[in-house]
This record gives sequence, structure tokens and C-alpha cells, in this order.
Amino acid sequence: MIAEHDVRENENLLAAVMDLNEELAEQQRALARANRQLAAEKAEQQRLLQELATAQAHLVQSAQLVSLGQLAAGVAHEINNPISFVRANVATLGGYVGDLLAIIDAYAAGEALLAQDPSLLARIHRLRERCDLDFVRGDAVAVVAESAAGIARVARIVSDLKNFARINESEWQVADLHACLESTLNVASHELRGSAEVVRQYGPLPALHCCPGQLNQVFMNLLLNAIQSLEGAGNGPGRIFLRTGRQDDQGWIEIEDNGRGIGPERLPRIFEPFYTTRAIGAGTGLGLSSAWGIINAHGGRIEVRTEVGKGSTFRIWLPLSRTTSE
Ligand SMILES: Nc1ncnc2c1ncn2[C@@H]1O[C@H](COP(=O)(O)OP(=O)(O)OP(=O)(O)O)[C@@H](O)[C@H]1O
Ligand SMILES: [Mg+2]
Repeated sequence: MIAEHDVRENENLLAAVMDLNEELAEQQRALARANRQLAAEKAEQQRLLQELATAQAHLVQSAQLVSLGQLAAGVAHEINNPISFVRANVATLGGYVGDLLAIIDAYAAGEALLAQDPSLLARIHRLRERCDLDFVRGDAVAVVAESAAGIARVARIVSDLKNFARINESEWQVADLHACLESTLNVASHELRGSAEVVRQYGPLPALHCCPGQLNQVFMNLLLNAIQSLEGAGNGPGRIFLRTGRQDDQGWIEIEDNGRGIGPERLPRIFEPFYTTRAIGAGTGLGLSSAWGIINAHGGRIEVRTEVGKGSTFRIWLPLSRTTSE
């Protein structure tokens, strides 16, 4: 009897222990679920903090760029006038040099007639040697051409600065940005040849109200940067993706390269005017700052994703309904 009682007691105990075990296991599962939820919430919080930091950095950068824009506007305005007249004068001078050389040639053709005045002829020959006429003849044309090219370059810088400072107000119209991208690709076809394969992934981006001429310039600047980033990047064949799309009331255009990427120490500076990592004389550092100014004038924004050694993606967001004052 005693043994039977013990067995029942044991069975009850066992059942109680199993119940407890089951309860414990359930509690452990609940704890694991809570832990997982906590971890997910923590990750979400970290993501939000990161987003906040990025947004804050954007704001600081935008404020800095706006004040740099005011400075640029002043410089552009001051340089614009002298550049215009120097450019016009160099062109006129080029014409004069051509005329003067033609007159000298006409005189030279009449040299035989000066035989009766040998001293005058000797003087002319001495003068000709002293001035090194043969050299001057070739060099004068080259000097004028070089000056014209130099002035054109300065004029280009002024125009980029104006874009950055948003003082160029060209024609606003409804334009198909896919057509703009295609025409930019055509213009850049020489640079693209042999350096990159272009992959188009166009999405449902509707025509929008914009300054197509200025946006073309933005696309060109981004495209040239993408091409230049491929040089020596060592990521296999160069590829540039052009993507477009739409999200709610905004359109976007993206240019991605598999180039060398941008390091974290450089990234905060790339939209500053005159910031360049290219060799002296190879880049002015105005491509991205003028792009920023143009996009800002459209009420849009530009984002960058980049990884050193992998490549960069620049995405432009533009409002589909015109919200900016122009
Ligand atoms: N796609 C890219 N890949 C890697 N680096 C880039 C890319 N785009 C821009 N950069 C970096 O940002 C810098 C600034 O670019 P930005 O276009 O403003 O000037 P730039 O290309 O140097 O000169 P410019 O455009 O006036 O000829 C570049 O010098 C380069 O270091
Ligand atoms: Mg550039």
C-alpha cells in the first residue's frame, strides 16, 4: 500500500515538474521573443539616429553652401564685366593681327622695288631679324588663340559660379528628362567611348516643369564625374547606370558608377565650390557645386551613396509639381 501511494505521489510530482518545465520553456520562448523585439527596436532606433545625423549634416551643409553661394554670386558678378570685354577685345585683336600680317606680306611682296634704296632695305631686314618676324608670325596667332581659350575657361567658371549661386534664370518649361539624358549621353559620347558601358534603367518619370538646359548641365557634370571615377578603379569593365523613377509627388534621376568611390574624409566637401581631388589644371571643382545650385533652384535635392573601391550613386530628387519661385 505504501509503495502504491509512493508511486502515485511520484507520478504527481513528475507531472508537476513537467508542467513547471513546460511553463519555464514557454517563459523562455516569451523572453526570446521579447529579446528579439528589443533588438529590432534597438536597430530601428539606431537607424533613426543615423537618419537624424544625416539630415542634420545635410542641413549644416546646405546652410554653408547657401552662404558660399552668396560669396560666389558676388565674385561672379564682379568678374563678369571685365571678362566680357576682354573676351570681345581678344576676338577683335585676333582680327587685327591677321590684318597686320596680311599687310606685312603685301609689303614683303614689294621688296624687289626697294632695290634702289639699299639702306632702307637693310634697315627693314635688320628690324625684321631683331623682331624675329618669322617666329612672331606663327606665335601671334597662337598667343591670341590661347588667350581666347583662357578667357573662355574663365567665362565657364563664372557661369558655373552663377549656377551655384542661382543667379542664372533661364527658360522654364515642361521637359521630358529622358530626352535630356539621351542628349547629354550624345554630347558625352566621345568621353564614354572605350571607358564605360551605359546601362539605362528608365522608370515612370513623367515630364516635369524645369530648366532643361540647366538640368542637362547637371547630368553632364555627374556623367563626367562618373566617367572620371572609373580611371584606374580596378572594378572590371566600367559601367554607368542611368535610372529614373517616381515616388509620390517627386521624380528621381540616378547616376551610378562602379568607380573608385569617395572616402568619408572627402564626402562632406564634394559640393563645395572649388573642391577637387583632380590634378592641378584637370578639374575646377565646380561640377557638383553648380549641380547642387541648379537642383536647389528647382526645389529638389541631391543625395550620394558611395563606397570606396565599389562606386558611387548620385540621386537627384525633383518635385513633380512646381513649388519653387523662379
Ligand atoms: N562619381 C564620383 N566618383 C568618385 N569621386 C567623385 C565622383 N563625383 C565627384 N567626386 C569627387 O568630388 C570632387 C568634386 O567634384 P566636382 O565635379 O565638383 O569637381 P571636379 O570633377 O573635381 O572638377 P570639375 O567638375 O570642375 O571639372 C572630385 O574631385 C572627386 O574627388
Ligand atoms: Mg566634375
